[in-house]
Amino acid sequence: MTQEYRHVTVLLEEAVEQLVTDPNGFYVDGTFGRGGHSRLILSRLGPQGRLLAIDKDPEAIAHAEREFAHDPRFEIAHASFADLAQLITERDRQGRVQGVLLDLGVSSPQLDNPERGFSFQHDGPLDMRMDTSRGMSAAQWLAQVGEKELADVLFTYGEEKFARRMARAVVETRQEQPLERTAQLAKLIAAANPKWEKGKHPATRAFQAIRIFINRELEDIETCLAAIPPALCQGGRMVVISFHSLEDRLVKRFIRKESKGEELPRDLPVQHSALNVTLRPLGKAWKASDGEVDDNVRSRSAVMRVAERI
Ligand SMILES: C[S@@+](CC[C@H](N)C(=O)[O-])C[C@H]1O[C@@H](n2cnc3c(N)ncnc32)[C@H](O)[C@@H]1O
Repeated sequence: MTQEYRHVTVLLEEAVEQLVTDPNGFYVDGTFGRGGHSRLILSRLGPQGRLLAIDKDPEAIAHAEREFAHDPRFEIAHASFADLAQLITERDRQGRVQGVLLDLGVSSPQLDNPERGFSFQHDGPLDMRMDTSRGMSAAQWLAQVGEKELADVLFTYGEEKFARRMARAVVETRQEQPLERTAQLAKLIAAANPKWEKGKHPATRAFQAIRIFINRELEDIETCLAAIPPALCQGGRMVVISFHSLEDRLVKRFIRKESKGEELPRDLPVQHSALNVTLRPLGKAWKASDGEVDDNVRSRSAVMRVAERI
């Protein structure tokens, strides 16, 4: 029997409250996961409302097809949210989208199922792809990556201080035996980490870095963000939930740029319209309540940002 792994949705009410402003609008959930946000969005829509959900992960798509297919207002697309512009254009909705939601990162089913290869706590094949139907697994990449490139990835995407030592350990170990299991990688990274942080597995940062690289996570976010303002109608909203500072920095900078316009010399006399301002931030950064953090430790690092198309 295949085990069903659950995902507890973070900032569920808050995100949907900010996103849905018109029950008859067209909405996009760019990160369907197990449909926690999608289900609540649909409950707020009238019969004319529509929801296009997207996910890279074939297991998320299978879940959507099983649990949501009966709802004629709902559609699921197996794609990256980086393809947002194309998905919207194909549906003739460019400039007519009422809201886009992104709940970034990995889902609990991805993390908890050892077979997906994301976990340093449970042994499994070293895969780490969200989209298992394409691309290179972590094992394939680690078998051939150069030591310098690996160190750069660990440093850039994991903010790992001991990136160079870890990269050397990987390259030395793979000369003896192929790296194919998560436990094997976690053990060698832990051994190469001279300074273990309290309450944190010594391979946490390295696993995060490899995962972000393998799934092109930051590139996808940047491409998707750029596609959001042209997709939205006036008053339409973007709601983005991030789980680490690399993601949140991209979102925060993007909203700042789109709400302040192009950086021009201060004394240049320019008309407001020439600044290309597309968004207005709504509120500051939302955090999960103490109660939510008590119930779901994953929500502790969540930061939600909201902006409206002007
Ligand atoms: C945190 S979970 C979302 C959980 C969802 N909001 C829920 O309540 O069930 C993130 C999901 O986004 C998907 N994902 C991450 N990056 C993606 C991308 N670039 N394109 C499409 N899906 C992506 C992952 O596969 C995962 O299923």
